[in-house]
Amino acid sequence: MRLFAGLELPAAWRRSLAAAAAQLERAGVRGRFTRPENFHLTLVFLGETCRAPAAAAALEGVSVPPFPLRTAAPGRFAKRGGDVWWLGAEPHPGLLEAQRQLEAALRAAGFALEERPFRPHITLARQVRSPAGPEQAAPFLPPLACTVRRLTLFSSERVDGILRYLPIYRRPLM
Ligand code: 2AM
Repeated sequence: MRLFAGLELPAAWRRSLAAAAAQLERAGVRGRFTRPENFHLTLVFLGETCRAPAAAAALEGVSVPPFPLRTAAPGRFAKRGGDVWWLGAEPHPGLLEAQRQLEAALRAAGFALEERPFRPHITLARQVRSPAGPEQAAPFLPPLACTVRRLTLFSSERVDGILRYLPIYRRPLM
């Protein structure tokens, strides 16, 4: 199975992000927009693995209290097949520490992870082709804030041809 660890987002965030994505589509931005139920923030991407129990155990190796999560400016990752447009998240020390500990616990458990630096973001759309940049999304994106109280292990699955991110394990922060 294809796994990643990350943060689920509150329903109010997902509604707000879906509304912003709809505005972008209306403004003529073409791409594969994230389905409203799929908005999330990735902490560590594991890829194909059959070691879900070991990954879940690694989530238990994180020791950080609940921390605030706030959105920041939109941005993009340039890709050959079309850009990824995202909404950034503020690099709060709690967020960075949770990600660092999680990555360390997964590496210690033997998972081979990518070396890319952590860039906290929520993907809005992939394979974007647009003459304007992602900053045009800013007016549609009111600042969002919440408190993160758990980490989630997700499986990425295609169900009837539709990409779904399914929480398979949750670990509360205390
Ligand atoms: P994202 O965080 O930019 O949205 C499931 O595929 C999740 O893991 C997505 O959120 C995805 O990108 C993230 N991810 C990180 N590295 C990835 C990779 N090499 N391949 C696919 N997804 C990756």
